[in-house]
Amino acid sequence: MARTFEIGEQDFLLDGKPFRILSGALHYFRVHPDQWEDRIRKARLLGLNTVETYVAWNAHAPDPDVFDLSGGLDLGRFLDLVHAAGLLAIVRPGPFICAEWDGGGLPAWLFRDPATGVRGHEERYLAAVDAYLERLAPVLVPRQVEAGGPIALVQVENEYGAYGADQDYLRHLVELYQRVGLTVPYTTVDQPTDEMLAAGSLPELHKTASFGSRPAERLATLRRHQPTGPLMCAEFWNGWFDAWGEHHHTTDAQQSAADLDELLSLGASVNLYMLHGGTNFGFTNGANDKGVYRPTVTSYDYDAPLDEAGHPTAKFWAFREVLARHTVVPDEEIAPAAPAPALRVPVQRVRALSDALGELGTWRRGTRLPSFDDLGHWSGFAVYRTRLPHGAGGVLELGEVRDRALVSVDGRPVGVLARDSHERRLSLPPGEVLELLVEDQGRVNYGARIGEAKGLVGPARVDGAPLRDWEVMPLELDRAAEALSGAPGPRSALSAGPVLVGTTFDVASAPADLFLDTSGWGKGVAWVNGWPLGRYWSRGPQTTLYVPGPVVRERGNELVLLELHAARDSVSFVEGLRLGHTEA
Ligand code: GLA
Repeated sequence: MARTFEIGEQDFLLDGKPFRILSGALHYFRVHPDQWEDRIRKARLLGLNTVETYVAWNAHAPDPDVFDLSGGLDLGRFLDLVHAAGLLAIVRPGPFICAEWDGGGLPAWLFRDPATGVRGHEERYLAAVDAYLERLAPVLVPRQVEAGGPIALVQVENEYGAYGADQDYLRHLVELYQRVGLTVPYTTVDQPTDEMLAAGSLPELHKTASFGSRPAERLATLRRHQPTGPLMCAEFWNGWFDAWGEHHHTTDAQQSAADLDELLSLGASVNLYMLHGGTNFGFTNGANDKGVYRPTVTSYDYDAPLDEAGHPTAKFWAFREVLARHTVVPDEEIAPAAPAPALRVPVQRVRALSDALGELGTWRRGTRLPSFDDLGHWSGFAVYRTRLPHGAGGVLELGEVRDRALVSVDGRPVGVLARDSHERRLSLPPGEVLELLVEDQGRVNYGARIGEAKGLVGPARVDGAPLRDWEVMPLELDRAAEALSGAPGPRSALSAGPVLVGTTFDVASAPADLFLDTSGWGKGVAWVNGWPLGRYWSRGPQTTLYVPGPVVRERGNELVLLELHAARDSVSFVEGLRLGHTEA
């Protein structure tokens, strides 16, 4: 049934009648697709009438000529589920989305040509953005409210006022959205300062703000820039994200609920950021860098009303009580979370990464030191190898390490170069072959370093003499399980890394969510049945990796880890999430 959605002088108007948006953010790309329906249902049971999602361009387009809309990237199916639940949708296609997501959603291949602009009116950048929106439009256009679908609003860019002030760029995006057939109202979001609200939008766009407290003051600031129409907090920050090596961020449920109540009492519309955060599976996490590089952790629990595994938290119930004061909240049961199976499984297969290299990629040779991006390798790990001049030791010096390198000489480990401690020099013992196992820990998603290349950045020298003739192998880790087949079990309680580790295990009944306990392990990445659980690190705060139930079967589950430092001889799964210590 075709409907209308408009922005009136005072309110949003659904079919001409005032409508208050009560929305929650849920990123389809952070949740297993078989769980979308459950999370959307819980949005409705919280009392929300709308679900909001970003679109992660780089997830759909891992390479320039690919646009994947299948499986977990089937945005059309996600929106259809939102619609079937009787909810509206807000879509934020970016092209930049921030969101603690790798590169803020901008595909790394965009910047292979260093002349390409970033979030501005530059020809090459805009040509790629145009092509992206043209490919996305067939998913969005037929699902707009007026075509009988759920999409009520689309957002242009994201907090652009925190980055730039290029009005021609924003105007180009608006004209592009129009050209591809997006007819619903357009919004922008900015942090509620006069500077950002002024820089991040255009007069014809409806401005909204992002904040998590002091609603009256923030809405007053927003009102100065959006003199008519509904006020909206398009990102009500009810929690926060974590970085490796920090505490787990939480916000007080009662305080957050009181702020939400105040916001709603002031008549504003809202989008909870997040309703349900989900997980940065695989290598999808982003990073911040305001002088110190700080990669975001794997969990995107966000201390949201629904936790990383999709279960209601105290904040869910506190918010539901608040929402019940402002709307009709459905009275349906939500099954309580059952503890996940706790298991201890011996490690069955171990193989040194150095032995397996031949099965994990091919060497690329060149005289120059290439970045990951030069090699078309957009995330994960690569091994760099070169011969040391004269076999003598000396001080290795690199321009930059993005982001962490395990350094060895003739196969013997000599140290780690970590970007987050600004390390780029290391004393080497005498030897022939220098090798660096380099990890891209996530592309920056906020601020000036968006679009930078990964890997080793030259010049590379030993005692001032340039290192030439490099061999680099980008690791294709989806082959790790195969490389492990037939490998023997561990020879001792700890196997020194880097190693591939594998085991096979059963569960009593499936599907069942699992929580891989990474405490006692060093640093690495893990997969269950080929599903990339993401990174773990002894720094914490998190010490579990979430395994979504739909990937688990009763018999013959295959767990694979790449452990960089020290692998144990058994792995454990625990009953629930362990997101780490909080500030208090
Ligand atoms: C801003 C961005 C979001 C997200 C949050 C922090 O509001 O718009 O994408 O990065 O900050 O979680």
